Amino acid sequence: MTLLDTYLVILAVASFANGQFCEHQWEGKFADHKVDGVPYLQAVDNVAPPPLEIRPLIVTGPSDNRVDLIFLGDGYTEAEKEKFFSDALFLAENVTDGQTFNDVAPLMNWWAGFSPSAESGVGVGGQPLDTVYGLYRDGTELRGVYYDKPEVARAACQSTDACDYPILLGNDPYYGGLGGSFTVITSSTVNGPAILRHELGHSIINVGEEYDGATGYFGVNSARTTSSVPWTQWYSEPETEPRVQRSNMPIQAYTWSLLNTTTAYSSTFTSAGTYDNYLVQFSISGVPESSDLLVQLDGVDLKWEVFQGIELDRYIYNLPFNASLAPGEHRLTFTLLNPDREGTAQLCNLEVLEYGDENERFAPELGYYGLYPTYSDRNGTTYRPTNNDCLMRWTYTVDFCSACIEGLWWALLRPLSLIDQVDQVAQASGVTNITLELLPVAQFRDVPRPSEAYTIEWFNAADSSPLSQWTNQTSALISQSIAEVDVVVRFWTAQVKIDRDGVLVQEERIAVKRCGTETSYPRRSLVEN
Ligand SMILES: *[C@@H]1O[C@H](CO)[C@@H](O)[C@H](O)[C@H]1NC(C)=O
Ligand SMILES: *[C@@H]1O[C@H](CO)[C@@H](O)[C@H](O)[C@H]1NC(C)=O
Ligand SMILES: *[C@@H]1O[C@H](CO)[C@@H](O)[C@H](O)[C@H]1NC(C)=O
Ligand SMILES: *[C@@H]1O[C@H](CO)[C@@H](O)[C@H](O)[C@H]1NC(C)=O
Ligand SMILES: *[C@@H]1O[C@H](CO)[C@@H](O)[C@H](O)[C@H]1NC(C)=O
Ligand SMILES: *[C@@H]1O[C@H](CO)[C@@H](O)[C@H](O)[C@H]1NC(C)=O
Repeated sequence: MTLLDTYLVILAVASFANGQFCEHQWEGKFADHKVDGVPYLQAVDNVAPPPLEIRPLIVTGPSDNRVDLIFLGDGYTEAEKEKFFSDALFLAENVTDGQTFNDVAPLMNWWAGFSPSAESGVGVGGQPLDTVYGLYRDGTELRGVYYDKPEVARAACQSTDACDYPILLGNDPYYGGLGGSFTVITSSTVNGPAILRHELGHSIINVGEEYDGATGYFGVNSARTTSSVPWTQWYSEPETEPRVQRSNMPIQAYTWSLLNTTTAYSSTFTSAGTYDNYLVQFSISGVPESSDLLVQLDGVDLKWEVFQGIELDRYIYNLPFNASLAPGEHRLTFTLLNPDREGTAQLCNLEVLEYGDENERFAPELGYYGLYPTYSDRNGTTYRPTNNDCLMRWTYTVDFCSACIEGLWWALLRPLSLIDQVDQVAQASGVTNITLELLPVAQFRDVPRPSEAYTIEWFNAADSSPLSQWTNQTSALISQSIAEVDVVVRFWTAQVKIDRDGVLVQEERIAVKRCGTETSYPRRSLVEN
């Protein structure tokens, strides 16, 4: 081993020991990850938090009854402070404005916390720069971005009550990130939003991957067998299931090959020749022009074209072909044509998928829910709900599939109360006006949704008799002869078919105020103790 190799091995071991994994991999359920019995983010390191200037980005309610996400900037100097806040706002708006987290946005608050870094950017070659949290890449390849100072990030998180999901935002224009206790992303314009929503999918919903060639497949979007499917409620044609969509993955690899003009990169694979059509997927970085690179299958130009404006950043390309591959060996070739790109042009990964035949269909259409095989790095099969409808599989898709959205509601509602606040005004006439403030969904959204509704029922707690005249009212006039009322709030949304954890029902006992005073108390978050 050379000195550099030794160093890289030590680094890899150190990263593993810290619980850091590659981008698109993830260490387990976010807040449940414990160190010596203490939730990871609550462990105390005796490290002073960095000075944090926190600004609200999108705030929908009190932190104690919202899920708070906060961007913590790394590699932004004092002079780049406004760039940090504008990068963070761009990202928060991108994943909530009409897409991704749009439906659940009233349950979330987004914040940005700035601490100046001495140096600008993120480190490469395993070496962090002099920055607040010490973000760096392993080499130069555009994949994982790791953190060198988790104790500082944790102290920053502990210094505010707006930090349920800390997101370390590296000041770097290229693809990269990490899922886990700290979600790591970069300010890449094209890839930043894509990686943010994907990593938060891991962190919040507690799901593994949906794309092929990974290691961790679990959660509401993954089934090991056709008889243990967690999304049967979403099947498009339940009467025909379980019916596995027919596909095959004849080749898949993370190559990370630096391309040169002397020798083309090529790889061979074998097709059984029994499928109707196929897809070639690959990702490359450092190739800004279509004329820089020739991509061929069996010597035929696949007419690859660069994603406009990508410059040197990484991009994932999917080229579908409506033809069957002939039985036998095939060769996929990547020829670098422009010598000026040597040193940057990199083939990150490649994959070929084959689909369906006349007897056994493969349903490619968006919105179809069934059983689609997903292939791991060792070609093991699990199943997913849709072909490419979920951003956990298809990086540039902006939305989750229905199974993940249902899981998202479960995960976000679990620590919250449907009731934000209870106000009471005891009137001289002997009645008390009790008013509930509910989470701003259903009719309390800025634009109310017919696909959501609240049902509200009031009861005299003494004998459980219903106080029907106040049904579905957020306020009720209660006689002070009633000591306590029970209120049952139910939230209904078409996006949750099964209320597995009872998160759609909230029952609250309220002592009726008698004196002529006004009281209000906020609901406490259920996870606090
Ligand atoms: C989100 O960001 C992507 C990538 O930069 C951009 O193409 C898209 O228009 C943005 N969408 C929204 C809603 O901001
Ligand atoms: C995966 O297994 C299938 C079925 O045996 C085979 O046809 C395919 O070539 C394998 N793919 C890889 C990448 O090993
Ligand atoms: C050029 O690329 C090919 C294919 O990746 C590789 O096998 C070869 O070693 C490279 N040559 C140089 C000089 O780096
Ligand atoms: C694929 O080709 C078949 C037969 O040539 C044709 O019937 C079908 O419509 C094509 N599908 C698409 C998506 O173009
Ligand atoms: C209360 O609201 C729910 C949801 O909109 C509705 O289904 C129910 O009929 C309403 N009940 C009454 C008594 O209006
Ligand atoms: C109770 O008080 C609230 C807030 O002032 C008011 O909006 C509501 O109309 C009152 N409720 C009744 C039933 O009078």
